[in-house]
Amino acid sequence: MIESGAVKVAIVYYSQTGTVHRLAEAAREGAEMTGAEVRLRRVRELAPAAAIDGKPEWRAHLDATAHIPEATPEDLVWADAILLGTPTRYGSIASQLQQFIDVTGPVWMRGLLNDKVYAGFTASFTAHGGQESTLLSLAHVFTHWGGILVPPGYTDPLQFQVGNPYGASFVGAGGTQPDAEHLEAASYLARRVTVVAGQLKHGRRALTSTSPTTSPSSTRLVEEHAASRNSR
Ligand SMILES: Cc1cc2nc3c(=O)[nH]c(=O)nc-3n(C[C@H](O)[C@H](O)[C@H](O)COP(=O)(O)O)c2cc1C
Repeated sequence: MIESGAVKVAIVYYSQTGTVHRLAEAAREGAEMTGAEVRLRRVRELAPAAAIDGKPEWRAHLDATAHIPEATPEDLVWADAILLGTPTRYGSIASQLQQFIDVTGPVWMRGLLNDKVYAGFTASFTAHGGQESTLLSLAHVFTHWGGILVPPGYTDPLQFQVGNPYGASFVGAGGTQPDAEHLEAASYLARRVTVVAGQLKHGRRALTSTSPTTSPSSTRLVEEHAASRNSR
């Protein structure tokens, strides 16, 4: 049974000093602009208090965003479209977001992350500091989730200015406010993802009665696989 109504978008991110948080807020505004229902969620901070307190901008950002709800796997299940955001950490995903990804096994196993629309966003300190490798790391996750990856490509003239076809991104020291162009790129990505998710959602609704995407035999195979894993 396919739900009708507004497209549901989950924006799940980690930010230590606020840069990725600002991209996430811009993405939320973009998705809302298209009429989507949006959940903005931060993942849980895992670093020890001593490390956080050793960097005043880290502590300040954590305290300033305490009101934003923490992400749960249910937020992903709820959504039609999902954007994940992370600072670049040695060219890859921050461990806080990775930890959240690593507790999605039970919902993934039940097929509850399949067929959603996915995109990523990031920030790094330097232009060649690994934005693409970070965004591609997120793409690996989306692939395992059976997602429909919707990158920005060069689908808007803005993309030729910001120059990242893999996802929204910004180059700046931690805590730097992304400029208007890069905030707009994050908003654009969220708008694009929401529109594509809406097209799929409405198309699926039209096709549900005639074109099932999961055959009875494949459902049985998944259940058998799950049962054999659980018995180990
Ligand atoms: C442990 C650590 C590793 C980092 N690794 C990279 C990196 O590989 N490349 C890079 O350009 N910046 C790196 N950075 C910088 C952050 O990605 C960058 O400052 C980002 O804008 C911070 O985002 P935030 O303010 O949302 O936390 C690293 C920062 C930290 C603390």
